[in-house]
Parts: sequence; structure tokens; C-alpha cells
Amino acid sequence: MTRPRPPVLTLIGDTPLLPLHFPETGRTLYAKAEFLNPSGSIKDRLALAIIEDAEERGLLRPDSIILECTSGNTGISLAMVGAAKGYRVKILMSESASVERRHLIRQLGGEVQLFAANRGYATGIELSLELAAQDPRIFLPRQFENPLNALDHELATGPEILAQLGGPADAFVAGYGTGGTLTGCGRALKAARAATRILAMEPAEAAMLSGEMPCCHHIEGVAGGYVPPLLRDAKLDGVIKVSSADALAMTRRLSREFGLLVGTSSGANITAALRTACDLPPTAKVVTILCDRAERYYSTKLFAEPPTP
Ligand SMILES: Cc1ncc(COP(=O)(O)O)c(C=O)c1O
Repeated sequence: MTRPRPPVLTLIGDTPLLPLHFPETGRTLYAKAEFLNPSGSIKDRLALAIIEDAEERGLLRPDSIILECTSGNTGISLAMVGAAKGYRVKILMSESASVERRHLIRQLGGEVQLFAANRGYATGIELSLELAAQDPRIFLPRQFENPLNALDHELATGPEILAQLGGPADAFVAGYGTGGTLTGCGRALKAARAATRILAMEPAEAAMLSGEMPCCHHIEGVAGGYVPPLLRDAKLDGVIKVSSADALAMTRRLSREFGLLVGTSSGANITAALRTACDLPPTAKVVTILCDRAERYYSTKLFAEPPTP
């Protein structure tokens, strides 16, 4: 039986869908405000779903250690859920992930272990498997392959979008880290209308779905040098490449013109969604995700002064 949720965890999900109008194009996008989840990102949903499922299946004990490899947001979410429920949490993170993420995880009582930035997610995943083989207390949420990741978006985020839109979408555009958002929301939206276009946003510098070699980019949280297994099930209708420069410019625009303090992947998603909307009739409903908050990027390029034109 699921235990009652500690108060902070009742704030997860049911985020608003914001209509954002871009006058120069005559288009309005619909953006799911996932940065309003209590730890500040879309990953709160996955952390709660996986931990509650593990509790129901008797996989978590008071001395369990929740261990995950993550670019940061999942780590913050797991540390928050672990703090609220009293579990120890250890996070393996690339040293390229913003330092704010490490601070937030530690502030929530989580432990952080860094691995070399040039190795991508695969290195961290291998390390988590090695550590788990040595310590029976370790529970691995396995966000990259756990079907609950996509399932939770299929059963919660996707239906929320449909209810908030008042019907099906014409297109859904999102970046991928684990692929959970794209796969799960994509399934829910396609089930409502098979013609809904599901489009992956990926950094132009790391366009792996487009068959290119991953290189350095500034859209933190997406395309970590790895095409995730969850994406194999995604029924994608296309891929939109967004450069780091365009993502940073749009993220700053969202803050300055819309008052939205969001992270760089949100700017990238909006850029890709706007391009999609411009190829569709003006009344088309194009949905995307505002993944996390700007405050976790103070030390990154997002807060460096933009170059003068
Ligand atoms: C900032 C940010 N944006 C987008 C994503 C992509 O979400 P998903 O893992 O569901 O593909 C992530 C995932 O870590 C993220 O941290």
C-alpha cells in the first residue's frame, strides 16, 4: 500500500499550460510550466513515480541508498523525494553539469559523485551498475530504461495537456535526455489524435537522431552524447535542430519579454516549437515544455552577458 505523501510531494504535477504569443509570427504556443514543480523541474514527476512504485513493490527499506546517474535535474528531484521520505540518495553526475545542481542536491541532503564530462551518460550508467553490484542496499531508479519514466508522462503529463488544451494538439515538440517526456507525452497525444506530430528537439551541435556525432553544446539536460533506449519506442514524426546560440537567445527572450525565468532547454524547446508552428496554419495548437528554472544556470553561459551585435 502506498504511504501518505509528505506535503511537498503533493505539489508535483498539474502544472499550468501557458499560451505564449509571438507577435512577429502571429503564432501562439502552449507551454507546459514544468518549472513550477516543487524542486523546479519536470523530473519531480519521474522521481515520485519511481520511488512510490519501488515502495509498493517492497524494493526500498529504511537503509536503502537511491543511486542514479543524471545530468542534474533528476538528481535534485530524487534528493527532494528522498529527503521528504527519509531515504539516502547518491547522485552520479557529469562534471559539466552546472554547479548549482550539485549545491541543490547537497542542500537536500544528497551525496554527489562526479565523472569526466567527455565520457557522456554511458560512463555514469556503467559506474552506477558497478556500485550496485558491490552494495545490496543500492536501489537503481534507472531513469534511462525504466518504463515508468515514459508511462508517468503517458498517464499524467499527456492527459493534463489534452485537458488543458480542451482537445488534441496539432504538434508536440520536446528535447530528450532520457526520452521519457517525448515518448510518454507523444503516446498520450497520438492516442487522442493519430495525426498529432511528435517532434524531437536536439542541439544542432549534438544531433544524434539526425545521425551526427555529438559535440559540445550549451543546452543542458538534453542530448548527453547518447540516444536513450526509451526513445526507441517513440513514434517520432521528425527532428528539429536548434543551435546553442538560438537556444540561449530564446531563453533570455523568455525572461525579458515574458517574465519566465526558465533554463536553456526551455528556450531550445520554444525555438523548435515556434519553427514548427510557423509551418502550420496560425490556429494550430503546438505544445512544448518549459523544463526547469533559470536559477540553476547562474554559472553557465545563460547568465554571461550576450555578445553585443
Ligand atoms: C533541463 C532538462 N530539459 C529536458 C530534459 C529531457 O527530459 P527527458 O529526460 O524526459 O527526455 C531534461 C532531462 O534530464 C532536463 O534536465
